[in-house]
Amino acid sequence: MYTKDQIQAFQIATKNFIDNPQDINLENLKKLLKFHEYQYYVAAEPLISDYEYDVLYQQLIALEGASPHLITTDSPSQRVGNSLNNNFETVPHLVPMLSLENSYNAEDLNDFDRKAKEGAQLDSIKYCVEPKFDGASISLIYENDMLVRASTRGDGVAGEEITQNIKQIRSIPLSVPLSQYGIQQMEIRGEVIMSKKSFSDFNDKLKAKQQATLANPRNAAAGSLRMKDPKEVGERNLDAFIYHISFYTLKEGAAIPEQLKTHSGSLELLWNMGFRSPQKERKVISNIEGVIQFCNDFESSRDNLPYEIDGLVIKINDFALQEKLGMTSHHPRWAIAYKFKARQATTILENVEFQVGRTGAVTPVAKLKAVAIGGVTVSSISMHNEEYIREKDLRLGDTVIIERAGDVIPQIVHSIASLRNGTQQIISFPTTCPVCEYILEKEETEAVWRCNNPNCTAQIVERMIHFVSKDAMDIKSFGDANIRKFYELGLLKNIPEIYNLDFENIGRLEGFGKKSVDNLKIAIDASKSQPLYRLIYALGIRFVGETTAKTIASHIEHILDLQHFSIEQLQSFEDVGVKVASSIHHYFSQEKNIALIKELDALGLNMIQTNTTAVDGNLSGLNFLFTGTLTQLKRSDAEAMVEARGGHILSGVSSKLNYLVVGEDAGSKLEKAKKIASIKIITEADFIWQIYLSNKNSTQ
Ligand code: IVH
Repeated sequence: MYTKDQIQAFQIATKNFIDNPQDINLENLKKLLKFHEYQYYVAAEPLISDYEYDVLYQQLIALEGASPHLITTDSPSQRVGNSLNNNFETVPHLVPMLSLENSYNAEDLNDFDRKAKEGAQLDSIKYCVEPKFDGASISLIYENDMLVRASTRGDGVAGEEITQNIKQIRSIPLSVPLSQYGIQQMEIRGEVIMSKKSFSDFNDKLKAKQQATLANPRNAAAGSLRMKDPKEVGERNLDAFIYHISFYTLKEGAAIPEQLKTHSGSLELLWNMGFRSPQKERKVISNIEGVIQFCNDFESSRDNLPYEIDGLVIKINDFALQEKLGMTSHHPRWAIAYKFKARQATTILENVEFQVGRTGAVTPVAKLKAVAIGGVTVSSISMHNEEYIREKDLRLGDTVIIERAGDVIPQIVHSIASLRNGTQQIISFPTTCPVCEYILEKEETEAVWRCNNPNCTAQIVERMIHFVSKDAMDIKSFGDANIRKFYELGLLKNIPEIYNLDFENIGRLEGFGKKSVDNLKIAIDASKSQPLYRLIYALGIRFVGETTAKTIASHIEHILDLQHFSIEQLQSFEDVGVKVASSIHHYFSQEKNIALIKELDALGLNMIQTNTTAVDGNLSGLNFLFTGTLTQLKRSDAEAMVEARGGHILSGVSSKLNYLVVGEDAGSKLEKAKKIASIKIITEADFIWQIYLSNKNSTQ
């Protein structure tokens, strides 16, 4: 609909507006908003973040508020949306689905409270606060206890009929006991979401099938609702929260249920009927100060939730009061959304750096024009591999949308191709190592280009950084920066030299007082007696993570035993597949690696599995799991005690489990274990007696 030139002009106008909001007039602002609405709802190619859109929209409301006579019927403020697609049948909502006004800070919330109090002529108002679920909104109609229709929000007045797809979502009941509460017909609202876990599992599946991954759980949920094949919807593990009853009729002679006098009561009622309404997730608060405090606290803990939310919704709790305040043409006066700080932003992809990791993998890293998202400044984002760049069609100079999802690691969502002006350049992957110029190689089954030069300086430094890291040899006070510094100064050339540092020279470096040199010495010395699995992990053998290192260590007495294992023998270890086994075999068949290990041995590092006797000991072959809160032991210590005696820790309850050790407030794992007769359920005290004390006896 818009030409390239127009798109570019609008983009410039948007930027000017964001920089100088006071300079825009109402007519231009409306055009700008209509343009961005089209991009978002129709073209499905948003050019600005939700936050930036809200800034524009709020300015429109402010300008129109100041001059109400200038409000035209086609203003973006006069409708609720325009996203209808003709593939599904369009059905009218019983009550229009309005959106909420947004607030961003305490001042906005105080304003909302002041207006509500004025309208209600009250001194204080009780609010119910609940999450603003970040998914796709739906409307459901139940009649005579049965789900009869489900639809998307559409333009707010009518939506698309998606009943079959909605029926795939297990948290939405197909029938509910309405009649028990005297209700004949009920229309309710909610949000379909995809949990963070389901989202990452789903993207993993897409990656495995070499299909494009989805940008975020919201898009995944919204896209899923409009799938042609309901079966596919079922596979996506969607969920739904129900947060509003928009309409109901009573059976003849029935009285309004007591719970339908307040919003929190209605959520309770929905919950009792079998819906997933905000239950633990809601709070009734008696004044706006409490609401503001709650909003601040909640924002800092949003990452702890298993699903994405983009804010909180504050609703007046009393329905009679809600009714008194009523609605404007586009939002209720009795509710407001409190939006968390934006997690999406647009910026420019200015440069690409190619970094070489310890295994020689070359990773492209996007260097971005610095931009703040959710309180963090982002200027650099990993682009993983060549395929990622191609899939997202990223070019140097592109405008890109970036996002900080729940897991905090920022990512590029997509580039905005329509904003290209001809100066953007294709990103070409180097053919030689950016550090040592060795020709890069790629295995057929891998997405990663690698430098296979064992003497590549980048790899040497990265290997040393890995060697000293927390989960490996855990040499505290060594850190990335010191390794790089010592390497650049010629004080450290390879891993064995970590144990032969010239501390006199180091002591002369700026920032190295006697205390820090002493600390470094102590930490390096202490690392010599780290358990064997840490050394195996620290060597950086490809595909050998911490868990595999532990498994391997438990099967050997001395690290060089691994020279004598065949790939098949290695595969007989738990969780070691052919890929891992081949990698271990390859590592131990190389003379230079054996020479490195022997050198470390000569420097005094522990090479043996010190607790081999215990491994063959009293818990050998037994599987344990701890659940609930332990009061006498730290869980990690308890688990280490089991492993040190040859036992294994399982991650869940299954028939393989031998002992479930139950602490305080144990929950579902205990219930599950009770159903499997072979599992012995013991207390923490039993565990200490059976495990710890029996070990004392055996070492005496
Ligand atoms: S109440 C009339 N509560 O946010 C009140 N909405 O801009 C209807 N949303 O379209 C909305 N969580 O899709 C409400 N706890 C919640 C919500 C919620 C998410 C969405 C909903 C709505 C949009 C408002």
